Amino acid sequence: MRLKKKEISSEYKILVLDDEIGIIDSLSVVLQRNGYNFDGVTSPMLAIEKIRNEHFDLLILDYMMSPINGDKVVEQLREFNDELYILLLTGHKDMAPPLETIRALDIQGYCEKNDRFDQLILLIESAIKSIKQLHTIRKFKDGLNKILEAVPKIYQLQPIGGILEDILVEIMFFVNSKNAFILVDSTGNLKEDMQNSIFKGIGEYNKSIEEFMSMLDPVLMEHIGYARTTKQMVKMDGAVIFPLINEFKQTIGIIYIESSDLDDDIKLLEIYSNQAASALSNAFLHSLVNTKNEELNRTYIELKKTYLDTIEALRLTVDAKDEYTCGHSDRVAYFSKKIGQALNLSKEELDLLSIGGIFHDIGKISTADDILRKSDKLNQAEYDIIKQHPLRGAHILSALSMFRDVVPLVKYHHEWYDGSGYPEELEGEEIPLLARILSVSDAFDAMTTNRHYRSKLDLAHTREQLINGAGTQFDPMIVDLFIKEVVDCFPEIKEEIKDTYTLPIHN
Ligand SMILES: [Fe+2]
Repeated sequence: MRLKKKEISSEYKILVLDDEIGIIDSLSVVLQRNGYNFDGVTSPMLAIEKIRNEHFDLLILDYMMSPINGDKVVEQLREFNDELYILLLTGHKDMAPPLETIRALDIQGYCEKNDRFDQLILLIESAIKSIKQLHTIRKFKDGLNKILEAVPKIYQLQPIGGILEDILVEIMFFVNSKNAFILVDSTGNLKEDMQNSIFKGIGEYNKSIEEFMSMLDPVLMEHIGYARTTKQMVKMDGAVIFPLINEFKQTIGIIYIESSDLDDDIKLLEIYSNQAASALSNAFLHSLVNTKNEELNRTYIELKKTYLDTIEALRLTVDAKDEYTCGHSDRVAYFSKKIGQALNLSKEELDLLSIGGIFHDIGKISTADDILRKSDKLNQAEYDIIKQHPLRGAHILSALSMFRDVVPLVKYHHEWYDGSGYPEELEGEEIPLLARILSVSDAFDAMTTNRHYRSKLDLAHTREQLINGAGTQFDPMIVDLFIKEVVDCFPEIKEEIKDTYTLPIHN
């Protein structure tokens, strides 16, 4: 507690003016013992000069002095400094200046000199509190002014990239930070099924979107996804993420700001983020009205390419953590797509099955290896951690709007048809069809490959397990189809995807 008080006190600088050196000496002992940053002078003129040239937060001065009294010193000071907090020391209460003078000179308090200075220390403590509050208020006021100045600029009609850059540059004026980025969805001006992310960064994040994607780690993605999904600010160690919410209460992106000390600025950043979101939403609407069709198509093709690049970049990140998962994920993607084709699903849905298959277990990326690779039975606490992976995966993929439609597949791939699965205990057709397909493919591949906790089952046994699970774990319709499309022709399929079986498997 004491340490904390000293820490706060030493941020503020106190000047003591008294023509008796003895008073300055004893005050210096008391003030330094209480952790204050202190300077003392005996000459009123010198004090005025010091205040003119240096920054002080608080002046403690004697009233009766030569050649001029304390009230005259203050009168001169107030001509050029109306912010300094002033406490007056009087020899005796009858010798204090009249109340009108104290008020007129904006002196915040006075007390009598005595040997113990207790009353003075209390006055200083309360003065420091007021000064601190004043600083916060001033910072907030300045910040709001900055926002007011910045807003018209970010509303100017210009390409989205320019707006994003302005938003980031303006932030730097009221937050002590060098590294930041903004990631927004280019909704509205693209074909409906295609959303993509537009990126702009400064400082360390001044990179192309491709470079940025390759430095995105799943932990950061999970935080971004969490901010997007919950529409709430996320505080990380040394950084903060603000969701950008449009007027329809939809998340259209995030701002990430790196800074070690953001406490006072959080509220300002929140206000600014709201302004930024409105400006962007406005700009998107405008570009929707103005962009010609062929331009739309060209953008669509370019974005489609970024989408595929991003999948590849993310996949590399996942594989870097655990190369064993990729064979399994590829096969889940393959089987699921096969079932999707048998169901005559659209090309978009088949793509989702492939991507969902590849990323269904991405939420395990931050799970500790000793739990993932444990060969004994998991205890309840460990099982609870494992059970978080669908939701964590959903958050990771929510970081990038382009993965929006894959999120439900990842989130619900461990739901059971009878409602006893997780994370939401959805039942029957409440579980999205594509997630029900993934669930069967995932279980089938788990059974037909060796795991560190058990050997693989033969095909007959696997078929039996699937049939047993129909109606409880699995959708019976999907199991029927899976047996026909995959299990019955497994030898040929296995030959076709034999490359995926060359890697050791790890679930
Ligand atoms: Fe899983």
